[in-house]
Amino acid sequence: MNDLGSIPRAQPHSDVVACPTLRLAADAAGIAEAARLVASGAVVAFPTETVYGLGADATDPEAVARIFAAKERPRFNPLIAHLPDIDSALREGVFDAAALRLAEAFWPGPLTLVVPARRDGTVCDLARAGLDSVALRVPGNALARDLLARIGRPVAAPSANRSGRVSPTSADHVLADLDGRIAAVLDGGSAPVGVESTVVACLGGMPRLLRPGGTTRDAILKVLDGALAEDEAEAGRAPVGPGLLASHYAPRAQVRLDAESIEPGEAALLFGAPPPGLEHAAASLNLSPDADLVEAASGLFAALRRLDASGAAIIAVAPIPSSGLGEAINDRLRRAAAPR
Ligand code: TXA
Ligand code: MG
Repeated sequence: MNDLGSIPRAQPHSDVVACPTLRLAADAAGIAEAARLVASGAVVAFPTETVYGLGADATDPEAVARIFAAKERPRFNPLIAHLPDIDSALREGVFDAAALRLAEAFWPGPLTLVVPARRDGTVCDLARAGLDSVALRVPGNALARDLLARIGRPVAAPSANRSGRVSPTSADHVLADLDGRIAAVLDGGSAPVGVESTVVACLGGMPRLLRPGGTTRDAILKVLDGALAEDEAEAGRAPVGPGLLASHYAPRAQVRLDAESIEPGEAALLFGAPPPGLEHAAASLNLSPDADLVEAASGLFAALRRLDASGAAIIAVAPIPSSGLGEAINDRLRRAAAPR
């Protein structure tokens, strides 16, 4: 058992000046250096197709503890272990028929499977928050898979932001939150999907969708012939982890959802046609003038950051349909708007 009490207390940002964070290029030398750093126990941010992850050797509890310290994250939250291919994932978890179908259909890609941890699996207790299950994912971008293959061990990685902040979709976002607190960021440009992976638990019985994300519910339902259990949230049950806390994706400004019009001084986050009152907005960004949900997801977190930086007290968000990727977008927006 790991001593969860031994996690180093996170330092305030101003105290951490000893090690500036390296920005590594996404070439052979950069990947090799990122892999060397992770293998030596350091924390390195790297791009996945969803958002940037804050990676450390998932088999090394001290390295995993450094993730929690850098993020100032509630320490009992389980992390996703990232792997370069299905075969490596099968060595860490017990896959039932449904889990296998999902892995074959969606990996590499924006899906995380929570499965029983294998007894001979290598993901440490701390990364699993002491649970008997393990969250596994094979990312959709070749750069992440190259890095993971080179490291040769599962890499624990939550989103590379400070706890409670908006997830990063570029190396600049990572540095804005974590410069000086982590060894390096591998700069692979902007993350194309823009919302985190969908999390599905396959723990016996019907698979359960724990978090909507980059793989749509409809696509999953199709592969499972409709056999997907009700969400925890919809069933009115307590969320399984602090990662699902209502206010997890919070900008500093207050967020007002389903805004049909804009009040003077608000920052406006738009989707589709401009609403009345836009001329009085303090700032505005349109996630997709053509009302395209894929485009909207890819720019969501960056837009929240930019509008937050405008200094407006309120970000008014236009209504966004909840079909397809809209489910994940609306889930993140509801969390951003939750009281805290
Ligand atoms: O797209 C993503 O999933 C990104 C990139 C970096 O891969 N990662 C990410 O990690 O979003 P994180 O730590 O922010 O979210 C992990 C989610 C949390 O909601 C956590 O509670 C859930 O996965 N999770 C992890 N292990 C679990 C387990 N054993 N049982 C239930 N939920 C688990
Ligand atoms: Mg996160």
